[in-house]
Amino acid sequence: MPSVSRSTDPRINVIGTGYLGATHAVCMAELGFDVIGVDIDADRIRRLSGGEVPFYEPGLEALLRKNLEAGRLTFSGSLAEAVDQADVHFICVGTPQRHDSGAADLRHVDAAVSGLIAAGLGPADLVVGKSTVPTGTATRLAAKLAAGAPGAELAWSPEFLREGFAVDDTLRPDRLVFGVAPGGTAERRLRTIYARTIDDGTPVVVTDHTTAELVKVAANAFLATKISFINAMAEVCEAAGGDVVELASALAHDARIGHRFLQAGIGFGGGCLPKDIRAFQARADELGVGRALAFLSEVDAVNARALTRAVALAREALGGSPTNRVVGALGAAFKPNSDDIRDSPALAVAETLRRAGAHVSVYDPAAVVNARACYPNLRFTDSVVSAVAGAEVVLLLTEWHEFRELDPAVLRPHVARPVVIDGRGALDPGRWRAAGWTYRALGRPQR
Ligand code: UGA
Repeated sequence: MPSVSRSTDPRINVIGTGYLGATHAVCMAELGFDVIGVDIDADRIRRLSGGEVPFYEPGLEALLRKNLEAGRLTFSGSLAEAVDQADVHFICVGTPQRHDSGAADLRHVDAAVSGLIAAGLGPADLVVGKSTVPTGTATRLAAKLAAGAPGAELAWSPEFLREGFAVDDTLRPDRLVFGVAPGGTAERRLRTIYARTIDDGTPVVVTDHTTAELVKVAANAFLATKISFINAMAEVCEAAGGDVVELASALAHDARIGHRFLQAGIGFGGGCLPKDIRAFQARADELGVGRALAFLSEVDAVNARALTRAVALAREALGGSPTNRVVGALGAAFKPNSDDIRDSPALAVAETLRRAGAHVSVYDPAAVVNARACYPNLRFTDSVVSAVAGAEVVLLLTEWHEFRELDPAVLRPHVARPVVIDGRGALDPGRWRAAGWTYRALGRPQR
């Protein structure tokens, strides 16, 4: 149960109501605080105020409604109103990749800080950055605050939530990282805000601004590297005749390696990993240590090759050119339990085959609306059966539970040729083969 807000409790402003900010605002209210969420997107504010989450995130809408009804949570388009009401201001705006380079575009972060200063940030206010930023950003922003709002403090506390598990990751994170300047009140105030989370046993790492910024990009770089490592092993398995799934499961018994993020397939996408490794490299170049992160361009290259290999496998399964061939694609989101299609490997594979002349039909349980808007030439369907109808090859591209549970015997009469390519290593090959299907997967031998 959330605690009842007291007059001495921090009053919280969350700037930016995308995946990160909307989840953060709702979870802060769930922890019992009075929260105002601010965004420049009027439609987003209207929908959130009406109890509607503008993206797919399991569990978030129920908590949004609960906290709106409890009167702890409001949304506004006015930063001035938020500065008037709150004393702790979380920056949760996006830091997309710049169009002209791999670096991060910081204009929204800068606009948030300028907006706070212009709105009359007070000397007792605390600004907490959560957006993913290149290292050095917090130091620069702290100087900007010192000049524009003397006394106001800056902390950097990166967020590690995963889409699809955003609520749980926010309320029960693996760790909290507080990047603070020496001698200030930020650590004490953050410990107050996260008191319940800390009491529940969440470890806290208190460090400086620079290290806090680095923790976030290093974590994502490590995860991306782990995925590309196993996809590189899949390439070797393909050449040597090994089986990457059996290899990964044997590696995972070593507790130092572990089993998570060793799922070979069509690679990583989404709004974070791809852009974060490029921004990290760009920043390392600026710092004169580009060599230290040169391996990240290989991580990126392995990831890009996973798509090419999946398309090549589809061509091979079709026995030649995809022109005028019928392909069924299961999945559009960059991962299950999300409607996010940013840098989605699933759509990249489907679109490449379409451009090569195939008639590709795509089904996804949540991402069709977003996908259709960006890929108007793909055909989208409202069920698995209509996506695979008449298909000469079926591609599993996002491992939704619904797809993992498919009965291959039930699906078989709907396709022209029972050939499945498992782009996520999510299906049981024995079950599909027993039902008469040819099963193919990246990094696995054809049996
Ligand atoms: C990622 C990080 O996991 C979060 O900790 C971080 O907070 C977040 O980015 C962020 O920076 O905001 P997310 O983008 O939600 O979270 O997605 P992940 O679960 O990391 O998956 C990323 C991609 O890797 C997906 O396309 C997924 O299909 C792929 N993946 C994941 C694999 O190909 N193989 C695996 O074994 C695991």
